Amino acid sequence: MRTSRKKKLWLALFIVALGGAGWFAFMLHKDTTYVHSPPYDQSRGEPADVLVVYYSRSGNTEGAAREIARFFDADLIRIEAPRYTRDFVGWRHAADDARQDVTKVEINHPPIDPRGYKLVVLGSPVWLFRPAPPLWAFVEKHRFDGAHVVLFNTFNSRFKDDEMATFRRLVEERGASWLDHLYVRRGRISWQKSPAEVHSELQQLLIQHQPAFQAVLQTPRPRPSPSVSATAEAEPGDR
Ligand SMILES: Cc1cc2nc3c(=O)[nH]c(=O)nc-3n(C[C@H](O)[C@H](O)[C@H](O)COP(=O)(O)O)c2cc1C
Repeated sequence: MRTSRKKKLWLALFIVALGGAGWFAFMLHKDTTYVHSPPYDQSRGEPADVLVVYYSRSGNTEGAAREIARFFDADLIRIEAPRYTRDFVGWRHAADDARQDVTKVEINHPPIDPRGYKLVVLGSPVWLFRPAPPLWAFVEKHRFDGAHVVLFNTFNSRFKDDEMATFRRLVEERGASWLDHLYVRRGRISWQKSPAEVHSELQQLLIQHQPAFQAVLQTPRPRPSPSVSATAEAEPGDR
């Protein structure tokens, strides 16, 4: 009798452990699977009024940033952060740094001066309710005088307003005029929107905010045209 109870207990433990391992494997798979979006091909010949700068670890913000750049015919800059590799070690670094509100982390990107643009869109995933550390690092390294800034986030379920307000203060300290915070909630990991749904939601968002964008884009350029080394977007193949 006692042996049979022990067996049942072991079986229950085994099932729980199996479920936990399955969930962990599923999370890791989701974390390292990104949705391909075609590289942004700049069609414009003259200097852009809009700069899109983004960090994306697993590709979702990247897809959205490319759509935003297409919408504005913008210059597009990708921030690389070697510490946050697309594996378990990178995920752990990401979670640890986000938990400690890290804002200084090694980042690489083509040289850029945001002050030459009328509108700068800063894109990033949300990590522990705030933009990911590489975007903070980018803002801390640059001045934005004369430019209006829009923050753009993708995330699963939620961010915190006070964390976003802290980010906004940093952007303003760096000389920018704050314009807006746009975001797409992709849904919890077990039930997420498809890339097509995310991109269609994003299009609607951009169209809705078009009057505010137009008002900014009709103002004179804050400084002489930026040098367009900004167009160099790293190839997606190197992820
Ligand atoms: C370390 C870490 C922390 C995260 N924290 C949050 C969070 O606080 N809130 C949320 O809704 N999603 C959170 N996410 C999910 C990401 O924001 C979401 O998957 C995002 O779309 C990923 O963008 P990317 O593919 O461009 O890297 C987190 C993801 C990671 C890796």
